[in-house]
Amino acid sequence: MASRAAVKTVIMVAAVALAAATGLAGAGARAADADAVRRGEYLFNAAGCLGCHTDEKGGGKPLAGGRALATPFGTFYPPNITPDPEHGIGRWSDADFIRAFREGRAPDGSYLYPAFPYPSYTRMTDRDLLDLKAYLFSREPVAAANRPHDLSMPFSWRFLLAGWQWLYFDTRGPRPDDPAKPPEWNRGRYVVDALGHCGECHTPRTTFGGMEADRYLAGNPKGPNGDKVPNITPQPRFGIGGWTPGDITLLLETGLTPEGDVVGNAMAEVVRNSTSKLTADDRAAVAAYLQSLPPIGPPP
Ligand code: HEC
Ligand code: HEC
Repeated sequence: MASRAAVKTVIMVAAVALAAATGLAGAGARAADADAVRRGEYLFNAAGCLGCHTDEKGGGKPLAGGRALATPFGTFYPPNITPDPEHGIGRWSDADFIRAFREGRAPDGSYLYPAFPYPSYTRMTDRDLLDLKAYLFSREPVAAANRPHDLSMPFSWRFLLAGWQWLYFDTRGPRPDDPAKPPEWNRGRYVVDALGHCGECHTPRTTFGGMEADRYLAGNPKGPNGDKVPNITPQPRFGIGGWTPGDITLLLETGLTPEGDVVGNAMAEVVRNSTSKLTADDRAAVAAYLQSLPPIGPPP
């Protein structure tokens, strides 16, 4: 029969062990969170979230609501994506977050406009999406109300997006790596198609704003702000077929073209916020992937 003293000792030892264990687990969880935030920051830059969701010109706080995006359907005002519980996405669960990117649906089930480039982001892995969320939730919450979009009818009817998704948003979720291709190519495909959403600007669109899949990256005569977006397939005359991999990585890092010009318009911002912040390996992967694509000339 155990004495009271022995029982006390056992309880004390157990309590100390438990405290040590939870303390360790706590530290482990924090370290994991810090890693997730760091990885999330890289993804945040690679995916170019800042520019649309910050009204830089209007002096808005980072991520507290975006600058006006003029489109043929009207003007979009990207919402507050800070962790503010009232005006931002502070109450969103992990599942809510993944669903927005994967399926283009808000937590209440309503459809999101593809002005938010989820048709590209849908390719991101769950893990990358959760790291991205960890980074966003580490940012300063800002209590700034969203500005409603200013769209013409019938584009202001959100439920019609069900039809849009049915027409243009049929492939969802990450693609498995192609085992016949080197890891660099698979990484390049992920950076270009999923994170960098290069096709959102460089691929021409149909009347209703779907991407023309068979003219992938072949240039868009009516890009953001009505600017012409060049063909970046390896077509020798109309695309960037004459560029070396080093020409491509230099442009992504510095904005300099092989002719010694500096890219302007929307691409200047892509370079500043996004591709200049990629690792050299990721820029090389982008170049390898772009050069492997089918060359596409102008439409017949
Ligand atoms: C080209 C501009 C653009 C880019 C780039 C962009 N967004 Fe958005 N985002 C929008 C627009 C516009 C909406 C509003 C869509 C709607 O109202 O249906 C939106 C909506 C969202 C929403 C839903 C918020 C809500 O309250 O419903 C989240 C979350 C979000 N974006 C996060 C991000 C993150 C994270 C990134 C980077 C990976 C990103 N966005 C990149 C334009 C953009
Ligand atoms: C927001 C729209 C947008 C996105 C996203 C975008 N681009 Fe661009 N890109 C442009 C525009 C516009 C130009 C033309 C710049 C100019 O007029 O100086 C351009 C130019 C380029 C050029 C130079 C081509 C030439 O012939 O001079 C390359 C290469 C390029 N982009 C690659 C990419 C890659 C790779 C990605 C994805 C990581 C990407 N772009 C994402 C809009 C975009």
